[in-house]
Order: sequence, then structure tokens, then C-alpha cells
Amino acid sequence: MAKAATRVYECQKCGYQSPKWLGKCPDCSAWNSFSEELQQKSQAPTQSENFYSLSSDLMPLSEVGSEAPARITTGLNELDRLLGGGMVPGSVILLGGDPGIGKSTLVLQWLAQVAGAQGPVVYLSGEESADQIKLRAARLKVAPDRLFLITENDLGKALPKIEKLKPSLLVVDSIQTVYLPELSSVPGSVTQVRECSGKLMFMAKSKGMTVVLVGHVTKEGSLAGPKILEHMVDTVLYFEGERGQPFRMLRTFKNRFGSVSELGVFEMLHSGLREITNPSELFLSDAENLSPGSVVLSSLKGTRPILAELQALLSPSSLGMPRRVVVGVDSQRVALLLAVLEKIVGWQLGGQDVFINVVGGLDVDEPSIDLGVLLGMASSFQGKSLANRPIVMGEVGLNGEIRPVSGTEVRLQEAARLGFTHAILPKRSGRFKAPKGIELHPVHYVDEALELLGK
Ligand code: TYD
Ligand code: MG
Repeated sequence: MAKAATRVYECQKCGYQSPKWLGKCPDCSAWNSFSEELQQKSQAPTQSENFYSLSSDLMPLSEVGSEAPARITTGLNELDRLLGGGMVPGSVILLGGDPGIGKSTLVLQWLAQVAGAQGPVVYLSGEESADQIKLRAARLKVAPDRLFLITENDLGKALPKIEKLKPSLLVVDSIQTVYLPELSSVPGSVTQVRECSGKLMFMAKSKGMTVVLVGHVTKEGSLAGPKILEHMVDTVLYFEGERGQPFRMLRTFKNRFGSVSELGVFEMLHSGLREITNPSELFLSDAENLSPGSVVLSSLKGTRPILAELQALLSPSSLGMPRRVVVGVDSQRVALLLAVLEKIVGWQLGGQDVFINVVGGLDVDEPSIDLGVLLGMASSFQGKSLANRPIVMGEVGLNGEIRPVSGTEVRLQEAARLGFTHAILPKRSGRFKAPKGIELHPVHYVDEALELLGK
């Protein structure tokens, strides 16, 4: 087939292609995201060369084997749990995160653990020199024999060497710095990222090795260029954290082999990342009694309940337009709950500045925290605190009704484990077994919950 060079414009966010430049992407609505790509091949042959494609005869589903996939442990318990019980051979994992957050540190610890237990693993770095990586390994105090390093940007050169070694794990750090020389686009462009990933996926599936693609995230929070990768890969993990804070959170955004929205917490120390197995303890203050405005929320991250302290502060505003500063919770939900307090309970809150913060930088964006946020605001407004330091769960409806939440039992178990003795929860919580030692305070409407303040 003739290789005619054609000009196309491609959205650098989602990969949408157009014969002419567009200001706004019709697919992902991003502005100013198109750049010119010179295509030297037609799409079809590239796909069959580089991409892993499925092809089988018709078969009854009942006859398809139902064995669970074999798993390889990563040696890091938190990571194993996030992946759904370890790595699945042949799977492709995308690890995204801001530059400097600790992705290279995490993958080096991961590689070292697997190398020690399973056999050869390969670290392909397109960003750092061998010396730099050696320095990091020395800092982490890891140096297993079967961890092989290759510093190369040209995938065409690197892959045959890696294939010969047959590693159980390959990490590519980062997918934006490797390229295929037969394509004319620059490394990091959508075309390069897509084609390189396709080639790596093909290798993962055909050789049964786990491949981890490290990707940088842009300021807007999307993976630069490889947004399109989220559909292709089996698992998407995001590594997040505040600069200047030692805590890092690893989340599952997508997982074909486990549940999503799982959360793993790590601490960045001088000697690398340490797993935090009891994150609730991190997000709670030591105080025996709550001060006005403080509430202990129960948030469910995937399958794991995490307790976190929320602090609310309401004070009369000196501004014409009172401030609403909300961290860790969705500000729209806060507006909705303020409206419920105004309309259903009848309080005048229009002139109040509202500040809300979740201790420890945790994000608890889910309906089950409604009642906690509402009680926190009410507690600050009235200057009364919740007695006995209860944990609070429940969704608040627009009519002031408290609606049930999922996972009541695991949330209560976590609370009991951490020594809590009281819980405020929706009356219609369905059937669940309450753990011993927890006194329940079921509430049906907002006013019943408010009565618990200052008791
Ligand atoms: P790095 O893994 O290089 O981040 P990324 O690959 O996501 O860009 O880690 C960057 C930061 O982590 C760097 O500023 C130094 C710090 N760090 C530690 O605090 N302790 C350590 O043991 C290591 C290796 C790094
Ligand atoms: Mg790095």
C-alpha cells in the first residue's frame, strides 16, 4: 500500500481527528486542543501490526472456562488490594499522576519486590539516566539481581531486547517519553502515545507479562495525550497528594479485575513510600470530645470504609456576598444542604460565611456524607457539639428526609474497631448486623438529627 503523507489535526486530549483545524473539539469539548499530525500510514495496517485484537468463533458462554485469573503479588499489600488481589499476567496498568508526586519511586519499589520474589523484571526509563535510577534505588535500599534497567526512548530498539528476557513485569516510565521511529509525530503526541501503547499491549497479552505505563497528568487533571488510553488499558490508577504533605493517595479509577474507587494511602519518607494500613487513624484527631463544627464522617472508598473528621465554621459575614470555602467535599452539595437548613429548618444562613474542611486532605465526595456535613454546619452555627463523638452517615433529601446509604454494616464495623461507641444513621437502613458496643441513633428527618446536638 502506498504510504501517502496526509495532514490531519488531532485533539491532544481525546485523539479526535479532523481534516481541518478546529477551535473546540466536538468529542471532548476541549478548547484549543488541536495540533497538526503528519500521518504517513493509513490507519488500518497500523492497527493489525500494533494492536492486540480479539478473534474467536461463536461459542456458548456456558462453555467458557470460569477460572479466576492467576495473580502475582506485588509485595505491597495496599497495591495488591487496589489491583483486586495482585497483578493479572497479561494485563496493562496505567499509573497516572502529577510530576514529582512519586510515581517513579512507587514503580521502583514495586519492581524490586516482584524481582525478589518472581524473577526477572524490566524498568524501561525514557526520562532518567541509569545513574539517577541507581541513586534512587540506593535511597530506597533496593538492589535485587533480577531487576533489569534499560534507558531508551526508541521502543523499536527496546522491545526486542525485553522480549528475549521474558520478564513477568515491565514498567515504562513514562509513556509520554517513548516513541516509534516509523511515526513522524513527536513523543507525547496522541499518535505516538496510542501506537506505543498498542505495541506494548500486544506484547503484554501475547507474552503474558504485566505492563505498567506511567503517565503524567496535566494541570487540568486529565492525562496529557493518553486520555484515550483509559479505554484501552485494563486498570487505571491515579497517584495523588498535596505538595508539601507527606501523604500520597493511590486510587483505582478503572479496573477490569477488581472494584473501582479503592483507595490506598502511603507516606513519602526519606527512604521511599510506606504503606499506611490504618488510614482512618490518620484522618481523625485525637480529641476525646468534638468541638462545635466537628463531625466524624464515614466514607466508603471502594470496599473499604474510612472515617474522617470534617470541620465546619459558620460566622456572620462582613461581605455583601458571603464566602463559601469548601475543601474535600462537593461545594454543590454544601449549597444544597444550606438550602435544606434554610427552607426546612427555617434558619437564616444567607449572611453567614461558610468554611468546610476535611482533615488530612481526604476527598469525601459521596451522598452518604450529607448528614455529617449538615450536622457540622448546624453544630457550628448553634455553637453546640455532638455528644459522645458519634460517627455520622446518611444522605439528605430535599424535603429533609434522611435516606439510607450502602455498606452500613462495614462502616459500623470500622467505627467499632476504632473504638467509637455511637452512630447516627438513617432509620430506613434496611437489615444489617450492628457490631457489639455501638449505640445506634436512627433518624428519619433532619429535625430529629438536629435534636441530637448539644444533648
Ligand atoms: P518521583 O518518584 O521522582 O516522582 P515522579 O516520578 O512522579 O515524578 O519522586 C519525586 C519526589 O519524591 C522527589 O521530590 C523526592 C521525593 N522522594 C522522597 O521524598 N523520598 C524518596 O525516597 C524518594 C526516592 C523520593
Ligand atoms: Mg518519574
